[in-house]
Amino acid sequence: MHSAVLYLAILMAGSNFDGVWKFPPPPPPEQYGNVLITRLTSKSTHPPVAFSHWLHRRYFTCRVCHFELGFALKTNTTEITEAKIRKGEYCGACHNDRVAFGVSEGTCTMCHTGKVSSSDGRFSELKDLPKSRYGDGLNWVKALRKNFIQPKASILDSKYESIPFDKNLRLEPEWGLIKTKAIFPHAKHTEWLDCADCHPDIFNIQKKGTRHFRMEYMLEGKFCGACHLTVAFPLQDCKRCHPDLD
Ligand code: HEC
Ligand code: HEC
Ligand code: HEC
Ligand code: HEC
Ligand code: HEC
Ligand code: HEC
Repeated sequence: MHSAVLYLAILMAGSNFDGVWKFPPPPPPEQYGNVLITRLTSKSTHPPVAFSHWLHRRYFTCRVCHFELGFALKTNTTEITEAKIRKGEYCGACHNDRVAFGVSEGTCTMCHTGKVSSSDGRFSELKDLPKSRYGDGLNWVKALRKNFIQPKASILDSKYESIPFDKNLRLEPEWGLIKTKAIFPHAKHTEWLDCADCHPDIFNIQKKGTRHFRMEYMLEGKFCGACHLTVAFPLQDCKRCHPDLD
């Protein structure tokens, strides 16, 4: 959208920005962050594989899977195969009968469920975690900081400690009509993620070095939208990034 047109749309929509951006329809909280892996199974007789983020992230930070184990931040782009899992790669780094159930005749259908709703029944296990309004309805920042959960940040290096990097950034829109500064707290991200999960692929390491840093691109899954549409709290939750908006 041209910025002048966007400005008018925002003025007309009022402070809640209704109708300015099209958000993907929200799934039920217990299915937010669940993905269906179909890269190979769409062509095989085995049903697609369900993977739930809320079920796993209380035990492991993002870094474990998206840095150490090499899962991509986009579903169906990682070259996971059954043979690699049996060799201990990808899901097999844990699904090996030591950390979690392994691959055997009795367990195929635990992963190959064909539907994103297969872990719905276990969502109530998280009922005591702090709440938020959108997405899976859970406030993972508070859950971690208040010690409700103690996810492991490494499974390969028992001495790993995350690099302390407590730099808060204020991001200002690149056009001057509306002042909606966004905040980016590094520490609340590096508690979960590795620097390499964001730099340099998603963000330039230089403040304001990222071009086209705008809401409409985030809604396409770029920049903050790489995580804040599907796994971390979604873009609907304006105030957590724009504390000045009301
Ligand atoms: C136990 C492993 C594991 C953990 C922990 C984990 N992920 Fe994932 N994630 C996956 C897998 C597997 C996929 C699918 C990858 C594929 O199919 O190529 C995925 C996919 C994604 C996607 C793409 C979603 C989509 O709709 O395409 C995003 C974004 C993502 N993860 C973010 C995160 C964030 C943020 C965290 C931490 C809060 C996290 N993940 C923790 C395993 C994990
Ligand atoms: C870093 C370790 C780790 C990785 C990697 C991992 N898992 Fe898990 N997974 C676990 C653990 C631990 C549990 C057991 C959690 C529990 O039962 O509370 C689990 C549980 C599950 C469950 C059971 C869900 C339920 O409703 O009971 C499924 C299904 C599953 N994982 C699928 C996968 C798939 C598919 C992958 C790869 C795409 C994967 N996991 C990668 C650690 C991992
Ligand atoms: C821990 C979860 C998990 C378990 C348990 C599991 N799989 Fe898979 N399997 C996967 C994932 C993830 C893929 C990749 C799916 C895709 O790309 O569509 C996969 C892919 C496959 C494929 C596609 C072809 C290929 O070569 O990769 C077949 C066939 C398959 N699994 C069979 C089985 C059988 C049979 C069992 C039980 C003996 C089983 N799986 C148990 C997670 C699992
Ligand atoms: C995950 C964090 C995040 C969330 C949630 C979020 N924004 Fe943004 N928003 C940003 C960032 C980052 C920018 C770009 C700031 C810059 O240009 O430096 C931005 C820019 C904007 C702009 C400037 C114009 C534009 O398109 O870039 C407006 C207006 C805006 N956001 C409103 C909203 C509203 C309304 C919501 C809720 C519906 C929202 N934002 C949710 C991070 C977020
Ligand atoms: C969740 C994504 C994410 C993670 C993880 C992350 N960063 Fe950043 N980083 C950003 C964003 C967004 C910016 C601002 C980019 C812009 O304005 O174009 C940034 C900017 C920076 C800057 C420039 C700051 C300035 O004031 O110019 C440095 C240096 C940096 N990051 C280092 C790190 C280091 C070191 C780590 C790991 C300890 C890390 N980042 C982890 C997203 C991330
Ligand atoms: C690689 C994934 C990823 C990217 C990219 C990312 N975030 Fe996050 N962000 C997270 C995760 C994970 C959390 C922890 C909370 C959660 O999972 O809901 C988080 C938390 C936050 C918080 C803390 C909210 C609070 O309640 O204290 C803010 C603010 C935030 N992100 C803003 C941003 C902005 C702005 C951008 C883009 C400049 C961005 N994030 C990009 C994954 C990401």
